[in-house]
Amino acid sequence: MTLTLKPYVQTSPVYVAGASIESIRQTYGLEEVIKLASNENPFGPSPRAVEAIAQAAGGLNRYPPMTDDALRQALADTLGRGLTPAHFVTGNGGSEVLAMIAAVFLSPGDEFIISRPTFPMYEITARRAGAHPVYADLDPEQFTYRVDAILAAVTGRTRLVYLCSPNNPTGTIITAAQMDELIRRLPRHVLVVSDEVYFHYVSSPDYPDSLRYVLEDRNVIIIHSFSKAYGLAGLRLGYAIAPPGLAGYLARARQPFHLSQPALSGGLAALKDQAHLTKTISLTRQGRAWLSEQLRALRLAVWPAEGNFILFKPPFAAAEVSERLLRRGVIVRPMTQFYLPTHLRVTVGEPEENARFITALKEVLAELKAEGAPETTDTGPVQG
Ligand SMILES: Cc1ncc(COP(=O)(O)O)c(C=O)c1O
Repeated sequence: MTLTLKPYVQTSPVYVAGASIESIRQTYGLEEVIKLASNENPFGPSPRAVEAIAQAAGGLNRYPPMTDDALRQALADTLGRGLTPAHFVTGNGGSEVLAMIAAVFLSPGDEFIISRPTFPMYEITARRAGAHPVYADLDPEQFTYRVDAILAAVTGRTRLVYLCSPNNPTGTIITAAQMDELIRRLPRHVLVVSDEVYFHYVSSPDYPDSLRYVLEDRNVIIIHSFSKAYGLAGLRLGYAIAPPGLAGYLARARQPFHLSQPALSGGLAALKDQAHLTKTISLTRQGRAWLSEQLRALRLAVWPAEGNFILFKPPFAAAEVSERLLRRGVIVRPMTQFYLPTHLRVTVGEPEENARFITALKEVLAELKAEGAPETTDTGPVQG
């Protein structure tokens, strides 16, 4: 008998991670490699989190607690606003929370709406559940949300609308006015998944207060992560914030002993070190401003960056620029999987890393110009 495989699982795209420092060292025979490719936090986790994780390691022969009550209580205390533990669902990173959402809200034949270019995990997790993408792409030049396009894309089969704000990879946000309009006009059968894993870094006064919608019991799930401003990408910890009814439903996708003890302890300790968080945010914003200025000075197209990364469009083929940066020991992220093969994304690093990236980029651009490499002029339309 032949196994029956689900065709939509077989054909769902697979996530391609940024290249690792070790692989680039080996491939190019380099000693010094810097990675500005995965929107990690170069300033590291809170020392208090590291200590808590080390302590937890000694007890790994035991199962962790079945519940994550203490962590959810700490999240409610940290975010305030009258949120309670019942508003939170934790998972092994925002990525897993996205997979849980797709598993419990989507069935084969359903539709979901995404605005490209954006984080590929929405399409990956939703297609793996058998749902079909409907695209309401960002404005192709400004990379701003088009609320009318999203609303026009809604059908009776639409289940989820994914928002990413700040959006990976463009760095742009949905504004408060836009989100308000969207929530007000969306029909009741549609759930908004607002991925805000980069929210700590936002400077814009136009950023929405999306917790308000959760507290108003709207069809909204917000996603946060410990991978970014808390500097704990390797720990795998993220969470959803939703009205308790929705959160309780989503929590059905959790496994027994869902989070490891290091994740439970490390997350709790990180939440208690707000000074470390504040410092990280401030250093990241400084680095972001410096990098944006440098890229603009090179006359490259750059978008308003509200996360810990900057999207830019090199004047030569992006893959070629990326490859030549690799040869100089600098890893940035090609954007092919993010629906934008003409652009590159650089993560804000430590000041020396940022400077090294800019120096290498200047060399690469000068080299390509000297070789007479063809210059690209288009703004790179979103690719299907
Ligand atoms: C927009 C967005 N959402 C979610 C994630 C997932 O983060 P994690 O699974 O590490 O929490 C990422 C990771 O880069 C991201 O860029």
